Amino acid sequence: MSTSKFISKETFKVIEKTSFTWKTPSNIALVKYWGKRNPQIPKNASISFTLKNCHTITTINFNKKKSSDIDFEIYFDGIKKEDFKPKITKFFERILEYCPYILNYKMEIHSENSFPHSSGIASSASGMSAIAMCLMSLEKELNSKLSDDFLKQKASFLARLGSGSASRSIEGPLVVWGEHPEIEGSSDLFGIRYPYNVHSIFKNYQDTILLVDKGEKQVSSTVGHNLMHNHPYAEKRFIQANENLGKLSEILQKGDIKSFIQLVESEALTLHAMMLTSSPYFILMKPNTLQVINEIWKYRDDNNSNICFTLDAGANVHVLYPEDEKELVERFIDDKLAKYCQKNQYICDSTGLGAVQE
Ligand code: PMV
Repeated sequence: MSTSKFISKETFKVIEKTSFTWKTPSNIALVKYWGKRNPQIPKNASISFTLKNCHTITTINFNKKKSSDIDFEIYFDGIKKEDFKPKITKFFERILEYCPYILNYKMEIHSENSFPHSSGIASSASGMSAIAMCLMSLEKELNSKLSDDFLKQKASFLARLGSGSASRSIEGPLVVWGEHPEIEGSSDLFGIRYPYNVHSIFKNYQDTILLVDKGEKQVSSTVGHNLMHNHPYAEKRFIQANENLGKLSEILQKGDIKSFIQLVESEALTLHAMMLTSSPYFILMKPNTLQVINEIWKYRDDNNSNICFTLDAGANVHVLYPEDEKELVERFIDDKLAKYCQKNQYICDSTGLGAVQE
């Protein structure tokens, strides 16, 4: 698919001042994206649960200006953040071709997250998707003919250019990003809502995020993705991920929860195996990550439970389970897993429906 449909070609009017606020969620991948080529094109397709409670709320105030440069300020929790500017500048430079109208405005960006600051939860997915949605609200105001479906697709397309996984944070509860032969409408350029019926066991799926390590990651995901370039197992991994997405699609439709558990845990461990076998190698898991995994396996065996885990590019553990086990699993987490978390902290979340205008 060509990217030209995302280029705003109209000579737009310029509004004196306007402002938009969007709340967009974080997401957790079930089949992982790890490895990309320019410009932010994934080496394999991925699928994620959109979360409900972990979100970013962003307001952008647009004020008309004369100069033709990218001009913005960013505030996080009310504090001006000069150190956030390089990443956002790079993002605006990348999307300029598609949103030339941003040059007409000075943008004041105000952002806050629902999850604790430096909790080890990646905020780039929710953060970039929130900015993208605010830009789409502006584009809609400038050109009312644009449909909401187009604007969501373009928001995902733009968010992807900020952070790949952000393309999966516009809609929910399940989003596929990356072209895949078995997923109709899937694209490397933007995320799409998983297009088939999902078995009721996966409705309102629970995700409790154990904050095992809240520190800054030693290796950023940008560096990690790049290490896949000369990785001895990379090509096999990309094939495996695409095969896993095909399998997971069937599992989701059939409600085969036992296979879901095997596939999702294997994906998490494979992601970290890629890190362990990169050159240079690195480890993002902590001792408590492994303690938690063993406790989850024990609980699952002892109680014939359908609990499982997945991991992001970090030490925190996402504990996944169906809604009908909520009460029992929450008790288990409190009794047995909280002690492995920094300050006993964890976040209770579940699947959500995506971006909401505030
Ligand atoms: O969106 P990025 O570049 O931060 O990469 C995210 C990669 C993982 O979170 C590890 C996996 C995924 O698919 O979200």
